[in-house]
Amino acid sequence: MTETPPQPWWQKAVFYQIYPRSFKDTTGDGIGDLAGIIQKLDYLKGTPTSLGIDAIWLSPVYPSPQSDFGYDVSDYCAIDPIFGDLSTFRQLLREAHERDIKVVMDLVVNHTSAEHDWFKESRTSRENPKQDWYIWRDGSGDAPPNNWHSVFGGSAWQWDDQRQQYYLHLFLKDQPDLNWRNPAVQEAVWATMRFWLDMGVDGFRLDVYNFYFKDAELRSNPKRRSFKGIFYKYASQHHHYDQDQPELYSTLAKMRKIVDSYPGDRMLVGETSTLEDFRRAFSYYGDENKGLNLVFNFEILHSRWRARDFRKAIQHWQTCAPEDSWPTWVLSNHDVKRHGSRYSRGSQIDLARAKVAATLLLTLKGAPFLYYGEEIGMLELALPHHMIQDPPGKKFWPFFKGRDGCRTPMQWCDEANAGFSDGIPWLPVHENFKQVNVSIAAADDSSLLQYYKRLIRLRCATPTLLTGVMHLIEKVPRNTLIFTRSEAGDELWIGLNFSHRKAIVQLNFPENLEIILATHHAEGATFSHGVMALEPDEAVICRKIK
Ligand code: GLC
Repeated sequence: MTETPPQPWWQKAVFYQIYPRSFKDTTGDGIGDLAGIIQKLDYLKGTPTSLGIDAIWLSPVYPSPQSDFGYDVSDYCAIDPIFGDLSTFRQLLREAHERDIKVVMDLVVNHTSAEHDWFKESRTSRENPKQDWYIWRDGSGDAPPNNWHSVFGGSAWQWDDQRQQYYLHLFLKDQPDLNWRNPAVQEAVWATMRFWLDMGVDGFRLDVYNFYFKDAELRSNPKRRSFKGIFYKYASQHHHYDQDQPELYSTLAKMRKIVDSYPGDRMLVGETSTLEDFRRAFSYYGDENKGLNLVFNFEILHSRWRARDFRKAIQHWQTCAPEDSWPTWVLSNHDVKRHGSRYSRGSQIDLARAKVAATLLLTLKGAPFLYYGEEIGMLELALPHHMIQDPPGKKFWPFFKGRDGCRTPMQWCDEANAGFSDGIPWLPVHENFKQVNVSIAAADDSSLLQYYKRLIRLRCATPTLLTGVMHLIEKVPRNTLIFTRSEAGDELWIGLNFSHRKAIVQLNFPENLEIILATHHAEGATFSHGVMALEPDEAVICRKIK
């Protein structure tokens, strides 16, 4: 009999995304740094009162002109001095590992910064050794080579006076796209991966991996007939030729081979936010799961607060993802409005909903990704135009206010700058920090933070929540989601009420259920004769009593 291999850590882990600029500043320059993350590791794991997460994913900390706040890398094998240096990074790695926290780096290799030496050399002439490391074309007359748009607005082509050609940038013009069809570029990326893997990092989040390859002939994208908008031209096309090209599959498989050649289950999680159909992401697990280990699917991130939207997203995973692929679940990240604000009306968080959302995130089968601050209910900050720093935000205001609102400093306590920095924070702290912060939340047993901790502990101690089969129950009231997780005779029932009204659910079995965790304490859900009565905005996790 063949033994089933032990489950890799990344299938059981709770991931926590840190946006390093905004987590904790130790130098007083108003920008978070690696030493700050080290200082806060105990908050994340290692003490009885820690949050209890298993892995951190760091948004980019490499040297960068910071045009897109680190997603424009000018040196892949170093640390930007604003964050520290390689020796601080090694210390972070060591101290994280001592607490059993894995460390995942952001690998941003669709494009580099225009300040990267590779690009500086490439633009000097049409003959230099790196002349073909980026995508250069002549264009015709004054017109760029094709009709592609940048995700951040405007043409994807930039004229370069020095080289007398256009270069392609699917994001900012400061972020020229690498030419992945050049084997030397691929080798350079493999070397970058090995540099960090040799040091001991546990994996990579691949930034916009589905953009690596472009159509070999750079054909223009067809127009989207139904497009009515005039402003965001990127949405006016079908992105047939500027992303998701077939060559990507074998390349991701190569990347997987590299991480697999290291001990300790190193991993890859792929990110893209621009798929025309969310379900396409599932194909990047590759044949027999030899592509990416994990693939972000942002369908629930874009779901409205309606049980049926979440149900649909869960069903897509169940019906369209390859067998044995491991799902991922994300409610917030550094590119979208915080879900605390998306799911609330007015300026206060809807605490009950935030707890229901947390229950969902941490009980679905798959890997949950938390975004710093969601555990204390941090809200989106609305910034006036003159304070916006995110480049697409500046460009599209007031239509798109940018992504600064979800990147404000972590709220640690009610002291100056929420305990984030002794200097002037690079983005303002949310004005609610006196009420919403880690130190107040840690002292309040009914806080969102304490609920996240309970959920994470329960998850960690309950194999059924980590590996159990998930089954979505059909024919339940419109505003509820009910699913089971079961394994080795253990059966858990999770009930979520998305409405502000009581919900009565017929479970159709005679046995009773015992509540093991609930958002409401006294006067919460009740069961009798196979009926689950959920209070308004309530979530419960129950075990079937045998
Ligand atoms: C990803 C990142 C985003 C960045 C873009 C370009 O979508 O999450 O922050 O701006 O890629 O690198």
